[in-house]
Amino acid sequence: MELFTKTLFLCLALAFTNGAPTDPEHSTAGGAPHAAMPDRCEGIEFDAITLDRQGNTLFFKGCHLWKGFHGSVQLSNESFKELDDVHHLGHVDAAFRMHNKEDLEDHDHVYFFQDDKVFKYDNDTLEDGYPKEIQQDFPGVPSHLDAAVECPKGECITDSVLFFKGKDVYVYDTATKKLKTKTWSHLPVCTSALRWAEHYYCFHGHNFTRFNPITGEVSGTYPKDARNYFMKCDSFGHGSQYKTPKCSEVKLDAITTDDSGRTYFFKDLIYMRLDTQHEGLHAFPIVRAWKEMTNGVDAVFSVTDKIYLIKGDQVYIYKTTAQYTLIEGYPKSLKEELGIEGHVDAAFVCPNEHTVHIIQGQTIRDVDLNATPRVVTRELPLPFPHIDAALCRPQGVDVFEGSQYYHYENVLKMAMSRMAPVPLDITPAMMGCIE
Ligand SMILES: *[C@@H]1O[C@H](CO)[C@@H](O)[C@H](O)[C@H]1NC(C)=O
Ligand SMILES: *[C@@H]1O[C@H](CO)[C@@H](O)[C@H](O)[C@H]1NC(C)=O
Ligand SMILES: *[C@@H]1O[C@H](CO)[C@@H](O)[C@H](O)[C@H]1NC(C)=O
Repeated sequence: MELFTKTLFLCLALAFTNGAPTDPEHSTAGGAPHAAMPDRCEGIEFDAITLDRQGNTLFFKGCHLWKGFHGSVQLSNESFKELDDVHHLGHVDAAFRMHNKEDLEDHDHVYFFQDDKVFKYDNDTLEDGYPKEIQQDFPGVPSHLDAAVECPKGECITDSVLFFKGKDVYVYDTATKKLKTKTWSHLPVCTSALRWAEHYYCFHGHNFTRFNPITGEVSGTYPKDARNYFMKCDSFGHGSQYKTPKCSEVKLDAITTDDSGRTYFFKDLIYMRLDTQHEGLHAFPIVRAWKEMTNGVDAVFSVTDKIYLIKGDQVYIYKTTAQYTLIEGYPKSLKEELGIEGHVDAAFVCPNEHTVHIIQGQTIRDVDLNATPRVVTRELPLPFPHIDAALCRPQGVDVFEGSQYYHYENVLKMAMSRMAPVPLDITPAMMGCIE
């Protein structure tokens, strides 16, 4: 309660200062009149956390909002102005993103709960008819919630939303609108809850606890400090292998799209999956997915159900299943596996083809992966002094060099071009970098 009163005071105080500050540089200055803007690295108990349609994680506290793991603090009414209308105080009790099938009209909409009201947003726009009483949309779900999180079928038994209030959890079936109540007294009271990378997190204080969304079970060592995982704080983070770079400083080691459409880039000891922007873009240690790749990756390519990772003169081939498994007998040498020697800068296979294009310095070497033994079938010049990575998709070939890339219709056009096309900049949406 005490915290709540403080927050109320701060938001009202801001209401009376003209042009309330949103720049955290000013707001955190000690003793300055704007010291009211909270700093999430000091440890905040969030009111609500959810993903938005674009995959940004939204963190709410009182009338404040942080967008993403390293966004700066802002007033939540800047993004969601109607949150103010009801109580003239933009606090949010709970929030989630609806996960229904794309053809259903509430797909990807974000729901906010404030006292006895529910707000339904499409991007930053409040839907007509909202806010409503919570029970109009979610019959049986109580007012004054603590937390809410979506749980799609496969992770829960049916498409569901979990609503938390005290130690009670209301499991709402989005198709039948039926409600089941459970009591998970072993879990801390969750003041916010988040589904992130297919896992479920209950936030309490500045800590969080991961739980099983069906049983509520907690396995592993919890609680953990949210500042080490869900936000970028200078004195936190576990050895932080990856500092989110500025887009202008991005430099890839390798990039590929596998058969099932999963796109990855590799940089030093981390990888990032790029086709799941919807869930946000996040970096993970390479060894989490490919446990033998302890020294990073020079080049990568995918063909049918396999992904080839090249490091030094070794080739590692993994089967692309739900989990990547190293095929027996690997790694093998470049010479033995592909009939080439020397450092590989980049490699790619175009969709529905079985020829790998291997880039070494200013030469592209083609190797037919259906032929034994493997031999170079064609050599073409590369119109670049050096490239970092390359990717071939149905729409053409992208060649990455530093923070820029070049697009070609196909490999021949690339090899034959006299002039590089206009370079394009890597954007935050592509690679999770910051402007
Ligand atoms: C947001 O809230 C603050 C503080 O309550 C107020 O000063 C400001 O005018 C509001 N902004 C908008 C866009 O409603
Ligand atoms: C919300 O954003 C999505 C994707 O950017 C777009 O397709 C949709 O039309 C937007 N909806 C509104 C109401 O602006
Ligand atoms: C957070 O978790 C640590 C243990 O990891 C515990 O010592 C601490 O009391 C917790 N703090 C809060 C505010 O929940």
